[in-house]
Amino acid sequence: MGYSIAIDGPCGSGKSTVARLIAGRLGFMFVDTGAMYRVVALHCVNVGADGEEAVETALENMRLSITYKNGEQRVSLGGEDVTDAIRAPEISKASSKVAALRKVRDKMVEQQRLIAANENVVMDGRDIGDRVLPDATLKIYLDAELKRRAERRFNELASKGIDVSLNNVYKEIEERDYRDLNRTESPLRVAKDAVVINTERMSPEEVTDVIEAMFKKRI
Ligand code: DC
Repeated sequence: MGYSIAIDGPCGSGKSTVARLIAGRLGFMFVDTGAMYRVVALHCVNVGADGEEAVETALENMRLSITYKNGEQRVSLGGEDVTDAIRAPEISKASSKVAALRKVRDKMVEQQRLIAANENVVMDGRDIGDRVLPDATLKIYLDAELKRRAERRFNELASKGIDVSLNNVYKEIEERDYRDLNRTESPLRVAKDAVVINTERMSPEEVTDVIEAMFKKRI
């Protein structure tokens, strides 16, 4: 097992932007675990699987593959590249529902650990420091107020031409926060040895500088 940086936190806290930047600087692989739960959600929507049993059956027939090209993660479902399709707002909502199920989590965690076993990784998600990589070299928890996180997500979706209102994005994130924080299986929480960074008044580069310095000190 090589070096690993675990980055956890709620939606819109800046995890993926910062994880991508730090991975680029260190030459590590950036693993976006949320994308994996999103693929499960897309598959369930496609096959009309609703409810725990139906989702578990759908999971058995799902062909998820993850590849890395020039440091960018691509995900495909049944051979079709769905990296962009999984960003749709209805898939965001569905992903936090399937992510609450134990069988779904067990399968995703197993794959995430396999990736980290062979590479130096920066992995972002909700349970990375706590469950997926409990021995990570460095654990970070990014946070920011809901209002700020909603604005960020709104701007990100708008820049991709996805038509949503700020109010709806706010409500959707609030709802997902609630589900991610209150589920029984691996709820979102700060791992006991994680460093908490409030990203509210920091640029992604500033957050990345702090993490890079901490990582270099640690190794
Ligand atoms: O990071 P994201 O918004 O792409 O994640 C989508 C959903 O997946 C999110 O609501 C919570 C869930 N998730 C999780 O439970 N565990 C992870 N390691 C990553 C994401």
